[in-house]
Order: sequence, then C-alpha cells, then structure tokens
Amino acid sequence: MNPSTLLIVDDERTLARSIKLFMTEQGYEAEVAENGDKALELLERLRPDLVFLDVCLPGQSGMDLLRRIKEFDRNIAVIMMTAYGSIEGAVEAVKLGAFDYIKKPVDLDELKLLADRACESARLRQELSYYRERENREIPFMGIIGKCDAIREIVARIQQIAALEDSPPILITGETGTGKGLVARTLHRHSRRASRAFIEINCTALPATLMEAELFGYERGAFTDAKESKMGLFEAADGGVLYLDEVGDTELPLQGKLLRAVEERVIRRVGGLRDRRVDVTIVAATHRDLDTEVKAARFRKDLYYRLAVITIDLPPLRERGEDILLLAAHFLETFNAKYGKAIRAIDDRAARTLMEYPWPGNIRELSHVIERAVLWSHGDRLAVDQLSAAPAPPSMPTAGLAHGALPQEGIDLAAWERSLVEQALRDSGGNQTKAARLLRLSRDTLRYRLKKFGLSRS
Ligand SMILES: Nc1ncnc2c1ncn2[C@@H]1O[C@H](COP(=O)(O)OP(=O)(O)OP(=O)(O)O)[C@@H](O)[C@H]1O
Ligand SMILES: [Mg+2]
Repeated sequence: MNPSTLLIVDDERTLARSIKLFMTEQGYEAEVAENGDKALELLERLRPDLVFLDVCLPGQSGMDLLRRIKEFDRNIAVIMMTAYGSIEGAVEAVKLGAFDYIKKPVDLDELKLLADRACESARLRQELSYYRERENREIPFMGIIGKCDAIREIVARIQQIAALEDSPPILITGETGTGKGLVARTLHRHSRRASRAFIEINCTALPATLMEAELFGYERGAFTDAKESKMGLFEAADGGVLYLDEVGDTELPLQGKLLRAVEERVIRRVGGLRDRRVDVTIVAATHRDLDTEVKAARFRKDLYYRLAVITIDLPPLRERGEDILLLAAHFLETFNAKYGKAIRAIDDRAARTLMEYPWPGNIRELSHVIERAVLWSHGDRLAVDQLSAAPAPPSMPTAGLAHGALPQEGIDLAAWERSLVEQALRDSGGNQTKAARLLRLSRDTLRYRLKKFGLSRS
C-alpha cells in the first residue's frame, strides 16, 4: 500500500518539524505549511490524505481553511490541533467535517493513533463507495437490459418473487442465450437468500448415475470410487438457491428422485441410510418445451407441474424490437472498455442489419458479434462491414474480414486470438478438450495459450 500523505499546517515551526519527523518515521509522507496560503498551494500539489490543522493561524483562521480543504476534496481527513482554551472552536470544527481534534501540547503517539484511524476510515469509505458505484453500474435494471413489454414484465415479476419470504420452484424457459442464467442469478441476488449460496449445475453434462451422486452426494463405499463420503449440491446449497440448468435433459430415473427432493425437501445420499432435510429454493431452466417432453413421455408430468409453479418465459431476441440496439450499445461499451477502443455509435446500416438478423443464438450471439466488431473496428463508429452477423466459425477468423483487406491502421491479432480462445471455452462450457477441438489445436497448445492470456485457472 502507498504511504499516506500528510500535510501539517502550523506556524510553530519547532512543533511542526517534530511532528513531521515523527510521522515520517512512522511511515507517513509529511510536509509542513506555516500559513494558510502555503497550505492551499500544497493541497494542490500534494493531494494529501490527511491534514493536521492548527486552529489559530496567522492571517487566515483555521476554521476558514478547514472549509476550503473540504471544498477542495471532502475526502481529506482533517485533524484540528487546538491550543488550551479553544475547545469550543474544535467542537465546531468537527461539526464542519473535521475528523477529530487534539489538544496542545500534542502527544505524538496520540496524534499517530488518530492519523491511523482517520486513514483507515477514509479507506473504508472509499471502498464502500467503489462497491456501491460498481453495483449501480453492473445492475442497471437489475442487470437485465431491455425496455420491451415482455422484459419489463419479467423484471417486475423477478421483483415480486424476490420479495417472497420463501419461494416455490421457478421454471425459466427460453431459447439458448436468452438470459436464463442471468435471470436465475438476478433472482438470487435480490432475494432474502442473497447472502447464501447460489449453486449451478448443468443437467446435460453428466449421465444419470453420476448426476445423482453430484446432486445428492454419497456415503463412503457407495461405489468403487467412493473412498470418502461427500456432500451433494442440494446440501451445499442449503439455505440458498440451486439452479438446475437444462432440467429438461435429466434422465427419467433421476427425475423421480428430483421430484422427491423438490417436493418433500429431503434428500438421501447415494448409499446412505437416512434422509436429510434441505432448505433450498429451486430455480430450473430449459430450452425445451416441457409440454412436448411430457407428451412424449420423456419428462415426468408430476415433476413438470412441481417445477413450474412460477414460470418465466424469455422471448427470443428477434422478438424484442429495439432492445437489440439497446443491448448492442451495452456490449459496445463493455468491449470498448475491455479492448481500449472508443466506438461511440452504430451507423444506420449496421443498426438495420442488427435489427433484421434472426439471432438464433440470441443475446449471447449478439455479444459475440459486437465483441468481434469492436476488435476489428477503427474510428468511432461501428459500420456494417465490421459485423459478421452470421456467426463466424471459430476456425475461420478471416470470415470477419471485409473484402479480405486489413484495416489501414492494422489489427490487434493477440486480442483477436484471445477472444477466439475465450469463445471456444464458452462454447465448450469450459471443457478444454472440446475447446481445443473447436480451435483445431492440441490440448497442450491450448493450455499454452490459456496461460499466455492469463485464462488458465491454476
Ligand atoms: N437482457 C439482458 N441484458 C444484459 N445481458 C444479457 C441479457 N440477457 C442475456 N444477457 C447476457 O447474455 C449472455 C447469455 O445469457 P445466459 O447465459 O443467461 O443465457 P441462457 O439462456 O442461460 O443460455 P443457455 O441456454 O445457452 O444456457 C450472458 O452473458 C448474459 O449476461
Ligand atoms: Mg445458461
């Protein structure tokens, strides 16, 4: 951490110097100003974190100076130093925003304690305002961008659900990339369970037996590999939210067990003898039409009804009208920041192209298209020839090139490569073998690149 900078304002030279010496030894950076004018000058130059200010100064009163300092930057902590007999003045100063006051003759150790406390509290305040600001930036409209009627209704519904003391299961439906995961996380973040776990599992990923062990846990010896007993995700999510992604892909034998867990709120570990009570809110999602799945006898009707007590149906992006441009602008800002670009607008033809494209991959696809466009673009407007609206296969990066020519000022090949690697990871759900295959790389080469781009977890 940088040393805190301290400005000492006092016309008693000897005192000021001994404070400076002492505080420097204590790790502060300190300067002295013997009058108000000098103090104001140093304020600009030094940008101190902390000021020790004598109440009685020649020329300007300490109180006036305090006001000026607070106007300059109200985050600067000011500690007043008062001569015997001017305590009222010091109390007044605290009301005006001084951090505290200390009586003369000053005890240096006491002064240091006060200074440490002031810096610590300034640091905490800054941190808080940083988080608050970040929160505000990251969840405009709870993070779900969109002004069309359907999205407004969904946001209102999320607010209603989040206000519930205890929520029944919620089923989120919608095509791939429509924001099901985002809605699930938003529900959690705004619910009473926000401080508890949010655990996500993709039901497509594993065969039924492994899935059962994952969800419900197992006891030691339940199967050959079970050297230790292990808690499942239901138990891990106790008190919080369990997000069952692609629940429509669960195999039938597991659906019965899932039903019991959701309905009775008890689970039994694989190979276990006793039931365990769990308090988990279930949010399930699927891109499938569960009605059809039920009719085709691929999904249990009772489980469907149980999961679908509350439903949220996310419309595909192509049905969200101008939200497409709103989202595009949002991603433009995100990727401008990520790649250090400054594209401020989308030109008319590009906007029309975005509005007319059917977006089979929905919002996720839009974000990839904008990411590529930002990478390729030059100048401050996004033009149509930078849009490779038809998703470019990751193995063919040149598909994004307009007329086969590179932009005049060149391109950032490393950033482009990094974005393709990131995309492959997303498309493969984080599976490195699959990602390597998508990129036609060996796993080792992919690993090398992950490391190079700082994308590897270890
Ligand atoms: N309305 C929205 N506003 C802002 N970002 C969104 C919105 N909808 C989706 N996104 C973003 O788009 C991406 C895809 O969304 P998400 O992963 O939630 O979709 P999904 O429906 O769960 O997809 P899949 O079915 O493939 O799992 C995420 O990065 C998400 O944050
Ligand atoms: Mg998802």
